[in-house]
Amino acid sequence: MEKRNIVITGFMGTGKSAVGKELARRLGRPFVDMDALIEEREGRTISQIFAERGEPYFRRLEVEIVEELAARQGLVIATGGGTLILNQNRERMTATGIVICLWANEDELIKRLAEDTSRPLLDRPDKEAHLRRLLAQRRAAYLRLPYHVDTTGKSVDQVVDEILALLTKLRDPGPTGQHRSAPPRQ
Ligand code: S3P
Repeated sequence: MEKRNIVITGFMGTGKSAVGKELARRLGRPFVDMDALIEEREGRTISQIFAERGEPYFRRLEVEIVEELAARQGLVIATGGGTLILNQNRERMTATGIVICLWANEDELIKRLAEDTSRPLLDRPDKEAHLRRLLAQRRAAYLRLPYHVDTTGKSVDQVVDEILALLTKLRDPGPTGQHRSAPPRQ
């Protein structure tokens, strides 16, 4: 098995952490959850970091951690939902790892995030409208990523099965020699 990092990204609520953790378990690789790592190092929650230091500070931490993780090998990494929107981070992770973007349709994301209070960007009265806006703003950046998996209506195990099948195809690409998975239509 090649040792390039496997990087799981995508919008908030697409299941990056749960999928990344299970994928790492099945592959026998170490798992790094970027948000959890930031919280551990800062000794505060993401919401506290946003409230006390502001989003730009949080984004700088993400850049530092991307640099650090991209210099390592053999990891499964779950990014934060906004990490790879920044070109610099996206280029770094795609240059050194296999980057897979998870998707879910908007209605499902709204349902999955309805009760959540841990995401500062969605901690506002017009949460649903803002989620739709943010996703629309970010869509083009996510679409620049090479591999896409739709999680709508799927269990964590089903998504991990699909990712493992994709990784197998990448190792053995067949006669066309290239594989690029398409994002789901929304
Ligand atoms: C963010 C997503 C969050 C977290 C932070 C900012 C974003 O991660 O990094 O609240 O900009 O989309 P999750 O996608 O794991 O919720």
